[in-house]
Amino acid sequence: MAVTSSAPMKLEFPSKTVQELIKTTDKQVPEKYVFHHQNKPADDPSELKYMDSSVIDFSLLFSPSLKQQEQELQKLRSVLSSWGCVQIINHGISSSLQNEICQVVKEFFALPIEVKQKCRTPDWLEGFGSDAVPENQSYNWSDRIRLKVYPFDQRTLEIWPESLPNFRTTLEEYTTEVIKLQEMLLKAIAKSLNLEENSFVNACGADRSVNMHTRINYYPPCSTPEKVLGLRPHSDGSTITILLQDNEVEGLQVEKNNKWFKVPTVPGSLYINIGDQMEMMSNGIFKSAVHKVVVDKERERTSVVMVCFPDPEEEIGPLSELIDEERPQLYKKVRNYFDAFTQCYVKGKRGIHSVKI
Ligand code: OGA
Ligand code: NI
Repeated sequence: MAVTSSAPMKLEFPSKTVQELIKTTDKQVPEKYVFHHQNKPADDPSELKYMDSSVIDFSLLFSPSLKQQEQELQKLRSVLSSWGCVQIINHGISSSLQNEICQVVKEFFALPIEVKQKCRTPDWLEGFGSDAVPENQSYNWSDRIRLKVYPFDQRTLEIWPESLPNFRTTLEEYTTEVIKLQEMLLKAIAKSLNLEENSFVNACGADRSVNMHTRINYYPPCSTPEKVLGLRPHSDGSTITILLQDNEVEGLQVEKNNKWFKVPTVPGSLYINIGDQMEMMSNGIFKSAVHKVVVDKERERTSVVMVCFPDPEEEIGPLSELIDEERPQLYKKVRNYFDAFTQCYVKGKRGIHSVKI
């Protein structure tokens, strides 16, 4: 079943990236970037608690010791069902590759603006730019590079930065590793629910290829950080999102029971977000986490986000094994969920509500 809406799309594009903006304006944040916190003052990050769940040791999820495996799987299930996100260590992606990707990203954002401006499609949807936002909403205090990275033959290589050959090779290597990791994560998540381990992999269309986009975010510092948001609250439209945070500068926050919690930086870890499509497939056992990003007063922050989603032709909905009398089907089955997600996004709404039964 397709989800459609007759309302026209209305998005507003910033005329400049934030990196350009801060060079040309004085300390005053332009009104269009001021985030209005529903008549409440912005939370002071120093007063917020950290997300308190412990970090999962990914290698134990596949441990030859069944006892260890079982314990870690239970922990995974419990963290994901209460938070919709988790941090993992010992995930198999080497710290040298993590450092290389962070380095090449810093080099990209340090390129002259004229060079970066060539790294985008004319509509700014892919490549370097700032995000469009729904009409009447404030702009994000961030720039990003958004690229299709997998399947490899669907990349728009002509907008990749030519002057940084390492950008391509490193991102390719990182993508290859993350593709493997996301499959193992889908298997572990299935096992944590006592399902056959390929249940989610097959539901995403195992015979076709998984799709992956990257969003590389750059959050410049802001002299009045309480007035802006790096990224406004949202959930991801993905199956799962695999995020490499800045090693030093915090900023990511996640919502639970209407409160915001800070996500700590854990060196070497990866942050995994349950996306809307995993919420649908798990019939709501796992909820996609609503998260946002605040910015620092002095320091810039970067993150490398890998957004995994099924082939758009695949019909996605709750697995039949997860539907019973106690837990009736909570979501419709849909193809190309991203369309529904985008249509809701432009109205400032959450896509997942459009597929709830
Ligand atoms: C995203 C996102 C968080 C971050 O790109 O969807 O939530 O820490 N990023 O940059
Ligand atoms: Ni996100």
